[in-house]
Amino acid sequence: MTKDEIKALDLDYEVCLCMNITLGEIITAIKDGEDTVEKLMDSTEAGTACELCQSCSIDEDEDRELHLDEILNAYK
Ligand code: FES
Repeated sequence: MTKDEIKALDLDYEVCLCMNITLGEIITAIKDGEDTVEKLMDSTEAGTACELCQSCSIDEDEDRELHLDEILNAYK
């Protein structure tokens, strides 16, 4: 997803289906200083189960439309 596409998403968009973490929660964590995927995982628990929402490189079959690394690139 492009940065503009990510920024157009609703804050309720569920980024991590396993842990039920929304885009709004991820953005808040980034604004609080979490500047790596690992830090986002630690503070929000997103990406800590099936791991597919961490990055496109892990999610090779594109099961998820949006990944933590893309959100970091858009908002950091
Ligand atoms: S969708 Fe995020 S860990 Fe499974």
